[in-house]
Amino acid sequence: MTILLLGQNGQVGWELRRSLAPLGELVALGRHGAAGLCGDLSDLDGLAATVRAVRPAVIVNAAAHTAVDRAESEPELARRLNAEAPAVLAREAAACGALLVHYGTDYVFDGSGDTPWTEDAPTSPLSVYGRTKLAGEQAIRAAGGAHLILRTSWVYAARGGNFAKTMLRLAAERERLTVIDDQWGAPTGAELIADVTAHAVRQLRARPQDAGTYHLAAAGATTWFEYAKYVLTQAQKAPAAMKLVVNEVAPIPTSAYPAPARRPHNSRLDTRRLQATFGLRLPPWQDGVRRMLAEIL
Ligand SMILES: NC(=O)c1ccc[n+]([C@@H]2O[C@H](COP(=O)([O-])OP(=O)(O)OC[C@H]3O[C@@H](n4cnc5c(N)ncnc54)[C@H](OP(=O)(O)O)[C@@H]3O)[C@@H](O)[C@H]2O)c1
Repeated sequence: MTILLLGQNGQVGWELRRSLAPLGELVALGRHGAAGLCGDLSDLDGLAATVRAVRPAVIVNAAAHTAVDRAESEPELARRLNAEAPAVLAREAAACGALLVHYGTDYVFDGSGDTPWTEDAPTSPLSVYGRTKLAGEQAIRAAGGAHLILRTSWVYAARGGNFAKTMLRLAAERERLTVIDDQWGAPTGAELIADVTAHAVRQLRARPQDAGTYHLAAAGATTWFEYAKYVLTQAQKAPAAMKLVVNEVAPIPTSAYPAPARRPHNSRLDTRRLQATFGLRLPPWQDGVRRMLAEIL
C-alpha cells in the first residue's frame, strides 16, 4: 500500500518516516514538497492535487501550525493549516477511500478539574491554536471518511526544539530558573507517538471498525516544574555530565508568566480507550525522557 506523509520534518513527522516505512511505500513530504508534489498545508488546491496524484491507502498528517503563542497574532494562518487543510485532506481521503491519520491536542480542553480527559469530554479551547485544532478534528469527522485522530500532549523529541532542550540550555546560562508548577500533563515522545501510529494503522487495515478519536500520551502526569527538575537531575547524572550553572529551580504559577495564549491547567489525557482497543501499553513519561536525554547529551 502507499502511505502519504505530510510534515515529514516535524518532531512526530521525522519519527513517522521510520515507523511507517515497513508498512508500505512511503511518500513523505515537507512543506516544500518533492517530485512535483505539494506538501504545503497553506496551498489547499495543491494538497488536493497531491492526494489525487498519489492515490494513497493511508494519509498521515503530522504538519500543523504548532506555535501556540504566535497563533494568537496569526489566526488566519493557524486556521488555514490546522482546520482548512485537514478538511481538504479528509474530503480527498474520503473520495479515494483512504484512511486519514491526524494529530489532535490536549489544548482542545479548558483544563478545569484534575481528572484525565476522556475522548468524549466536552471541548472548550482557550487559545487560537486550540480552537483551530478543534475545528480541524470536527472537519475530519464531518467529511465522513475513515479517520484516526490521536490527541496527544507535551511532545518532545531528540530532533527539533522542545521544553526539555530549552531547560538544558537555560540551566547552562542562568543560576536561577522559574518554571510553571500549576499546569499538569504528560510529556510524550515523538517516537512513542510514531510507533503507536504504525501499530494502529496496521490494526485498522484489518479492523476498520476501530477507527475514531483516541487519546495518546505517556503514562503518569507531572508539571512543567517537576519535568524541568527531572530533566536537569538526569542531565547531571549522565556519563558526560553537562556543565550547568543553575543552582535554584523555583516553581511559579501560570499567572507569573504572562504569555499571549492561555493554556489549560489540566492537560491529563485518559488513554484507556486507545490501550484497550489496540492492545497497547503506554510507558511512564520518564522512560522516553531518559531515552531522549541519553541521545542528546
Ligand atoms: N508539540 C506539541 O507539544 C504537541 C502537543 C499536542 C499535539 N501536537 C500535535 O502533534 C502534531 C505534530 O506536532 P509536532 O510536535 O511534531 O510539531 P512540529 O515539530 O512543530 O512540526 C510541525 C511540522 O509542520 C510543518 N509545517 C508548518 N507549516 C507548514 C505548512 N504551511 N505546510 C506544510 N508543513 C508545515 C513544519 O514544517 P517545517 O519543519 O518546515 O517548519 C513542521 O515540520 C501536530 O498536529 C500538533 O498539533 C503537538
